Amino acid sequence: MDYLQIIGGSKLKGAITISGAKNSALPVIASTILSDKPVKLTNLPNVVDIRTLLKLLTMLGGEVKHNKTEAIIDNKNMNSTKAVYEIVSQMRASILVLGPLLARFGECEVSLPGGCAIGQRPIDLHLKALEAMGAKIEIKGGYVRAEAPNGLKGAKIVFDKITVGGTENIIMAGALAHGVTTIINSAKEPEVVQLCEIIRDAGVEISGIGTSTITIKGTSQKPLEFKDIEIIPDRIEAGTYLCAGAITNSSITLKKANATHIQSSIDKLDAMGCNFDIKDNEITIYPTDRLRPINITTTEYPGFPTDMQAQFMAVATMAIGDSLIEERLFENRFMHVSELNRLGADIWLKGSIASVKPVAKLYGANVMATDLRASSALVLAGLVAEGVTNVRRIYHLDRGYDNLEGKLLALGANIKRLSE
Ligand code: EPZ
Repeated sequence: MDYLQIIGGSKLKGAITISGAKNSALPVIASTILSDKPVKLTNLPNVVDIRTLLKLLTMLGGEVKHNKTEAIIDNKNMNSTKAVYEIVSQMRASILVLGPLLARFGECEVSLPGGCAIGQRPIDLHLKALEAMGAKIEIKGGYVRAEAPNGLKGAKIVFDKITVGGTENIIMAGALAHGVTTIINSAKEPEVVQLCEIIRDAGVEISGIGTSTITIKGTSQKPLEFKDIEIIPDRIEAGTYLCAGAITNSSITLKKANATHIQSSIDKLDAMGCNFDIKDNEITIYPTDRLRPINITTTEYPGFPTDMQAQFMAVATMAIGDSLIEERLFENRFMHVSELNRLGADIWLKGSIASVKPVAKLYGANVMATDLRASSALVLAGLVAEGVTNVRRIYHLDRGYDNLEGKLLALGANIKRLSE
């Protein structure tokens, strides 16, 4: 199994290019099910999760030509509507095929994803919304079986909680439904916005894009004709590299990044004392010799993202005072705490709040990645830990970070991938 070996202490310097957003590419790939014509995607991140979803489409009968950052997907001959456990259990975002399969074919079977390392992560809100659109839903043998033989009907959906995947599934379902679907309390993440925009560019009337009320006039089951799609930059990857700059007290530049999408992270790093130069699609972070402590509460976009919580916790270990980090979205997203403490951090957990006390130094150790973002936090800590840090179980990282060690190496980090 591969692991990353990092020798801490190098200053970083230079520029790297941010890849396409995994969490935008996934719903975009799922949305190609709404079409029976070839769709061209560019700026895909070269990560395992993308390959997993493309594999699922081929298992459903889609034709996929994929080359690292580009894919042409043709779902004309799609002949299966069953998303099997073997794939969904590898990647819970496979649930994103539920809405489009049901909308296009009037039936589907999708394995229930189950819980994951960061929490229970139910899909009740997706199912309730599809039922409101006329779907008959049954859970049997670990699968969601959904039927709407005459197509889905537009409905008014009020989400009890803001859900990114739920909003995306209903946008895709609403695109081919009969009549108008209104989603109230919808997610506003940039990835949701991109999904709305590509569906709008395919001729569907959508209003309220980027707001908490989205209205979609469905095509009554007429398949969509997508234009070529370029995936937006990955805001979480960009935020992770800004944290790499902050924790190592270095100046680095991110190219092809969207600063607006990570304003909340930039604001927090600014409050910690870092300076920035932002122009067009480039962000440069400048170091500070005294990282100030920070208070963070994770919330929905445009607030501070849960997907940046672990990385900021790593940075906060190097601050000059006590930081408080509250996780509001997922009940178990603190698995990195004990691993950071193995590197010498002093972090205390009480319920959903972590108190991060300053330490003079971190020391290299063997640590284990537990989920995607927790893994990147361990790598960040390894960049400043004295001695050797080995980060194991990096298959989590490979799911969502495109060439992490290559990019850090280009910035001057002492990092290598080894096998055991
Ligand atoms: C998306 O997950 C992201 N994944 C996650 O990124 C991200 O952490 C999360 O949104 C929050 O921003 C993708 O985009 C592929 P949610 P998603 O539905 O859609 C509860 C990463 O590291 N909820 O917005 O699954 C849920 O338990 C990942 O890249 C219900 O109760 O998240 C959570 O507490 C990890 N019932 C909250 O809502 C439901 O039916 C938000 O979850 C659905 C969700």
